[in-house]
Order: sequence, then C-alpha cells, then structure tokens
Amino acid sequence: MKSIWRYGAGIVLLASATLASADFPDKPVTLVVPFAAGGPSDKIARDLAEALRKPLGQTVIVDNAAGAGGTIGSAKVARATPDGYTLLVHHIGMATAPALYRKLPYKVPDDFEMLGLINEAPSVVIGKPSLEATSFADLRKWIAANGGKVNLAHAGLGSASHLCGLMFQSALKTSMTPVPYKGTAPAMTDLIGGQVDLMCEQATNAVPQIEGKKVKVYGITSLKRLPLPSLKDTPTLAESGLKDFDVQVWHGLYAPKGTPPAVLEKLNAALRTTLKDPELIKREEALGLTVVNDDRLAAAGHRKFVEAEKVRWSKVIKEAGEYAD
Ligand code: MLT
Repeated sequence: MKSIWRYGAGIVLLASATLASADFPDKPVTLVVPFAAGGPSDKIARDLAEALRKPLGQTVIVDNAAGAGGTIGSAKVARATPDGYTLLVHHIGMATAPALYRKLPYKVPDDFEMLGLINEAPSVVIGKPSLEATSFADLRKWIAANGGKVNLAHAGLGSASHLCGLMFQSALKTSMTPVPYKGTAPAMTDLIGGQVDLMCEQATNAVPQIEGKKVKVYGITSLKRLPLPSLKDTPTLAESGLKDFDVQVWHGLYAPKGTPPAVLEKLNAALRTTLKDPELIKREEALGLTVVNDDRLAAAGHRKFVEAEKVRWSKVIKEAGEYAD
C-alpha cells in the first residue's frame, strides 16, 4: 500500500514539474552577476538581460552578488531553487575558482547546468600615463630591468585582471609586485593616477580609458588584433614575441544543477536568439568583445571547455602559488 502511495506522489510531482516547465517563464528571471555594478561583467549581464526579454517574454533582472572573486554570487546560484528563475552570468572565474580557493562552497562544473558561452573578451596590457615605454619591446626591457619593483594592479583574487596578470608574468618569466584592489574601478583609478604601473585588464573596461588617452596600451592578449579604431595598430602579445600568448576572458550563462531539461532547452534557445541580435552584437563589438556561436553554446561542448580551462589555469595558479581560503 505504502509503495502505491509513494508511486502516486511521484507521478503528481512529475506532472506538476512538467506543467511548471510548460509555463516557463511566467515571472521575471534573475541573472546573478558575481561582481559589482558598473564593472565589465555587470555591463555584459545588463546587455544580455535586455536582449533576453524578447525571446523569454519576461522581465530579466540583474542581481549583483559581489565578493570573493565571484565565488559568493556563484554559491548563491548553486544553492538556488533549480527552476530556471535564478541564473548566473560568470566569466573565466568559473573555471579558475577551484584552483584559487581552497574552500570553495560549490563544485565546478557539477553543481551547475551549462547554458552556453556568451562571448570572448580579450584583455589588454595597459600602463600608467607617465610610463616612458612607447612599445611592448621597450616595456619588456623596463620590466626586465625593474623586475619585482614593477607594480601590477588587479581587481582582486580571482578577477580577470589577476588571472591575466599571472599569465603575463609566467610568459615573461618574471615576478612583479601584485597590488590587489576591491574591484576594477579603484584599480583603474590608481593606474590613471600613476599609483601603480601596469594592469592586464579586460578590453570592456580598458577601451574607454585608451580612447580617452588616460592610460598607455602595450598589447592585446588574444591571438587576433582588435578591430577597434583605438586599438587596430596595437599588436598582440604573441606578435610581440610572447609566443602563443592567448588570454580570453569568456563569459557564460549557468543554471543550478537539477533545473528541468525542458526549462534548460527554453533558456538555451533564448540565449541562442540573443546572440544573433544585431543590437547586442553591435554593443559587444564596440567594447572589443566577440559574440561566440560554436559548440560551446551546447551543454556538452561548454562543459568540455570549462574542464579544459580548469586544467589550463590550475597550472598557472599553482606555479604562482596565489591561493585564498
Ligand atoms: C567585474 O565586473 O568587476 C570584473 O569582471 C571583475 C574582473 O576583473 O574579473
């Protein structure tokens, strides 16, 4: 008798989950951004939220849950009800947090459903306005001569600028003095003010400062130059002698583990529609971002990519020995 009841209750639960999936979404969807408002990740999430409204037929809200290199917001989504109404927009930190944080309160990728890659965002090596170096070759000589005295700003452990800076030092086979800030805004303010020497920052955040001639630019971190007017003559680091140097700060969309497949399908279809939206593409390209449309937009392809990024970055992080509890 007991098992008949249990069987019946199971059918009712399944039926109500199917009904909920069929109606999805019937209320606003929240995109959690694990970084502060006004920063590059926030900008990307807000543009995405705007573009998702139409295909989802619902309001899409951005919730900034900043702190601890993106791990606070990620944990919030990993623990959220897996119904498709709470999603995470995260960057490369999704793949690097397991190596950087000894006590990570979630598992990557196991605690998430992969909805797909949104974009790739190259970074740029930028310097304070008073630096005398006028080319990457000059800068390299200056770094070699000053080594540990060179201050390298970053937006906090686990930030994109921190990771890019680690890769940059590893490629140059040198150590600089890291200067961590509580976000991209104060790091950029001090670079412009000359309190720190260098930063390897996402193009999203750096392009307006380069256009305003507030910082000097020395190289692009991806393998291709950026077609932006202010950067088209700036060589890639690989072209300047750092063989195969390739750092792209990608962003992806994630749901908590256990979100019903029918809901995931609707969300993935909506994401695919937004990534063809000319308005979104235009906004992203203006900041040096590339909207991606490959197998990383499918769950299996994206999972494989995140796993590969985990392996690639854990080597660099171990070599640098920079961890947090
Ligand atoms: C942000 O939006 O604050 C950034 O994406 C942080 C970072 O540099 O990783």
